[in-house]
Amino acid sequence: MQSKSILVLHGPNLNLLGLREPEHYGSATLDSINHALSSKAKSAGIALESFQSNSEAELVTKIQSLATNKADFVIINPAAFTHTSVAMRDALSAVKVPFIEVHLSNVFARETFRHHSYFTDIAVGIISGLGAQGYSLALDYAIQHINRSN
Ligand code: DQA
Repeated sequence: MQSKSILVLHGPNLNLLGLREPEHYGSATLDSINHALSSKAKSAGIALESFQSNSEAELVTKIQSLATNKADFVIINPAAFTHTSVAMRDALSAVKVPFIEVHLSNVFARETFRHHSYFTDIAVGIISGLGAQGYSLALDYAIQHINRSN
């Protein structure tokens, strides 16, 4: 059997986690989040890659790479691109990999421009407002999803 894999995508400014508005985004750094996700995936026998970029073009290219280098599941926090990026949405539609949209903060309890997402209606689901734990819960689901489809 081929080995299974999960891609975790982080959008702009998430490299600043730990420093950035902790009242919204908590105190965990991106490295610590990625490390915890890698350990959990490893215990489940699944490969996990994390990728952060501040560039929409790089994120689109990374999503497009799934067309040839297929992952079984994507966990994505598109950050500010959530509210603007038709290009990332189209790339995810094109490669047809199931994904969960994660937000550290509860976007629905914040400014109205954060209430609209270009991703939610094509996602398997969304987790918003649970801080770094949201990524871990998304990964639990992704692992179950992959094991179910084995
Ligand atoms: C975010 C919410 C977005 O509105 C914001 O632009 C971010 C982070 C979150 O994780 O809560 O950069 O996606």
